[in-house]
Amino acid sequence: MNHTVECIECGATHPLNERAYVCSKCGGLLEIRLADRSEPDIRRWGTRPLGVWRYREMLPIDEKAEVISLGEGGTGLHECRRLAHDLGLKRLHVKNEGENPTGSFKDRGMTVGVTQAVELGADSVMCASTGNTSASLAAYAARAGLKCFVMIPAGKIAAGKLAQAVVHGASIIEVDGNFDDAMRAVVEAARNARSPYLLNSINPFRIEGQKTVAYEINDQLGRLPDIIVLPVGNAGNITALWKGLLELRALGLADRLPRLIGVQAERASPIANAFRSRLDYVEPVANPETVATAIRIGSPVNWKRALAAAKDSSGFIETVTDREILEAQEALASREGIFIEPASASTIACVRKLAHERTIKADEETVCIATGHGLKDQEAVSLLARPPVRVRASRESVMAVLGIPELAAALS
Ligand code: F0G
Repeated sequence: MNHTVECIECGATHPLNERAYVCSKCGGLLEIRLADRSEPDIRRWGTRPLGVWRYREMLPIDEKAEVISLGEGGTGLHECRRLAHDLGLKRLHVKNEGENPTGSFKDRGMTVGVTQAVELGADSVMCASTGNTSASLAAYAARAGLKCFVMIPAGKIAAGKLAQAVVHGASIIEVDGNFDDAMRAVVEAARNARSPYLLNSINPFRIEGQKTVAYEINDQLGRLPDIIVLPVGNAGNITALWKGLLELRALGLADRLPRLIGVQAERASPIANAFRSRLDYVEPVANPETVATAIRIGSPVNWKRALAAAKDSSGFIETVTDREILEAQEALASREGIFIEPASASTIACVRKLAHERTIKADEETVCIATGHGLKDQEAVSLLARPPVRVRASRESVMAVLGIPELAAALS
């Protein structure tokens, strides 16, 4: 294999089997350049189950490597007819990444990233996280027999995600401060060669795994939609999605690429602010706040590629309020039976808003990427919950609450 790792700033190339996260020449972020494939064997893809490793020819992992897998990817693409009808849209789909093994899209990146960690001979791995990355890394590290260290902002991640990291045996380090502080600390620690292998989304192998969501959407729909909407925090996922889409076009599997709409929470929106002000840099938000704790991020590492993906796809980065997020979460769950966490619900909130404004037109086919499962963050739901009705355990009182008292009387 002749894949290389290339700096997105100065273009310097690095070997694939080096433990590098940023360019040794200029400090820029690194991206994997796959060796040209004159004829990738895509006919074999159809014989494999839908999932990350269906596309293994497009992943920079040695053919002989033992893949560390829990069965990631292959998530449902659900057409949401009732919600679409409510919004005056013809075709709206949710790609439910909550169906992944640890309940979030992070598993796509971790199966590739942890496989690479083992290939490099690492015996430990680490990350900073708002919750899902730590849950996913802890699981894949356990699967591979590696030690795992996760750095989380103290008191700021959903209990379900913390429980996952605990049960998978990770060493959990709480940082005084927010995610951005934890991220800075872990990136600095990673400069030391004896540190655990870093698996945040500055790691280019993570991006490679996550790009497979683009391949799956194309396979499931049989085409690409007009618009893809996804939440943006540290901006690894929008970077990965756009890379996957560009590869599909280069392979001749797609000609027209969708517009990407990235969504941030109103009080944690450094990339949306930059996009709106037409800046080519991002001013960090000092104290980001939102109910969508997964994307409570003020200083996103991958901001540059997020801005480029939005611009190059003729899309944009939008914001929604916490209230819109929680209403959208409930709308999707109650109208379509799909329970997603607040960060993911930001996409539905955004589509509701843009459909109302007619920025998304009725006949534009839209896919929302729902990045994480709702059960991870039950605290958020209690803000909306309707209290249960309490009754005596008798047929009469049950019939009464079912709204058919005359039937209850007839039966008694
Ligand atoms: N949605 C969910 C559910 C997430 O957990 C994250 C990020 C995002 C969206 C945003 O993705 O950072 O690639 O733009 N969670 C990270 C974590 C930061 O630590 O779990 P992004």
